[in-house]
Amino acid sequence: MGVQILWAVLLVAVAALAIAAPGLRSNRPDAWWCLIGYPLSVIRILATWRRLTTTIGLAVPRRPARLLVGSVVLKGDPLRPIPPRRSLPRLRQGGLEATARLHPGQVPDDFARFTEAIAHAWRVFAVRIVPVGRGHVRLVALAWDPLASPKVPRVTQYEPLRAVVGRREDGAVWAIDLHLVPHWFVVGATQSGKSTLIAALVKQLAPQRVALFGIDLKGGLELSLFEPRLSALAPDRSSAGRLLARLVAEVETRMVLCRKAGVRSNKDLPKQLRRPPIVIIVDEVAELYLMATREEKNEVGEISTNLLRIAQLGAALDAHLVIAGQRVGSDLGPGVTALRAQLGGRVCHRVNDPGTAEMALGDLSKEALVAAQQITTAERGVAVTIGEDGRWMRTRSIHVTPEEARRVAKKYAHLTPVWHEEEGTYL
Ligand SMILES: Nc1ncnc2c1ncn2[C@@H]1O[C@H](COP(=O)(O)OP(=O)(O)O)[C@@H](O)[C@H]1O
Ligand SMILES: [Mg+2]
Repeated sequence: MGVQILWAVLLVAVAALAIAAPGLRSNRPDAWWCLIGYPLSVIRILATWRRLTTTIGLAVPRRPARLLVGSVVLKGDPLRPIPPRRSLPRLRQGGLEATARLHPGQVPDDFARFTEAIAHAWRVFAVRIVPVGRGHVRLVALAWDPLASPKVPRVTQYEPLRAVVGRREDGAVWAIDLHLVPHWFVVGATQSGKSTLIAALVKQLAPQRVALFGIDLKGGLELSLFEPRLSALAPDRSSAGRLLARLVAEVETRMVLCRKAGVRSNKDLPKQLRRPPIVIIVDEVAELYLMATREEKNEVGEISTNLLRIAQLGAALDAHLVIAGQRVGSDLGPGVTALRAQLGGRVCHRVNDPGTAEMALGDLSKEALVAAQQITTAERGVAVTIGEDGRWMRTRSIHVTPEEARRVAKKYAHLTPVWHEEEGTYL
């Protein structure tokens, strides 16, 4: 009798869950995942693991497919390949994770190549592979896209030169930390989210002791929003050339100061000698490199050399580059490729031409390149980012509107270090 009641209760509970599931899924996705999605996924993963790993070639046969019997070679399909050993999937917020042991001869990349197949088999949004120690990988499944409507972190405490600009796919905040990665390269088609990211960055840097410089060859259209907080804004190529030449001189002054004081970086200088960090923001970098006439060729050459010089010396002397572009291909000349090599931080929004994504990510990670090419038009502000640890990650910037950016620039205008335009020195 007792057992029958237990069964009846269980049946009613399952029926109630089945009825409530669709509503729960849309209204309380986290609750839905814990109660229904996760248990079902665990059953699915356990039931399909062998078949899945066999299909994608990660299960290996105990014996080779060829066998020598006397002097006869027998060929055939091996019986029951052995799948990689796997832990029970553990629940995590908005997803699950499991650890798998690699077979001898396998590397984490062997799993990484099949993340899409695994995500389909598990019916989750995406699967990411994280190498953990020797011989193991962690498979992290995301039940849905955590960037579709990210919760925006509120930041009130500022770490010097660190800007919290959005959310990462793994739930952590996305920070552009100029101490850890001194220079950044940001690409994306029009309307993909570049300016919004720059606005988020400026919004966080504005309250800090930083000199911000803008180079925006679309007549200063984009960066003029921040003008009250910019120490200088160059709206055309010749003024950009002059500004960069003076900034190189400033960086060289810092070098002399450091040498005289016997220290290795601007940070180590005595307080009264220390200069404010410089952040140079370039929007639409391609315009800097386009040339038609011979005269322009010289100008471009000079700009290119100066950008490279700042990139090379900047890390220790507190001069940072944030370079954004819409279409940045190797056709712009060797200067761009050389500059890219100096820009360790990469952010790739949706792009129209594969060449630009290749330029931003191709030299670091092929998988990141594939992930960037999957960003859709609707996913504004979503990007594939490579930062301090060299691993790629999907991210989404905080939606900072132009009005907000303008307001912040005005609010902190009094913190703007004054830059003497003619002499190129701080007053
Ligand atoms: N992180 C984001 N979240 C939501 N919407 C965004 C985000 N980033 C950008 N957008 C939207 O996309 C539009 C274009 O963004 P913008 O930064 O101006 O692109 P770009 O500078 O690449 O042309 C913005 O007006 C904004 O509405
Ligand atoms: Mg823009």
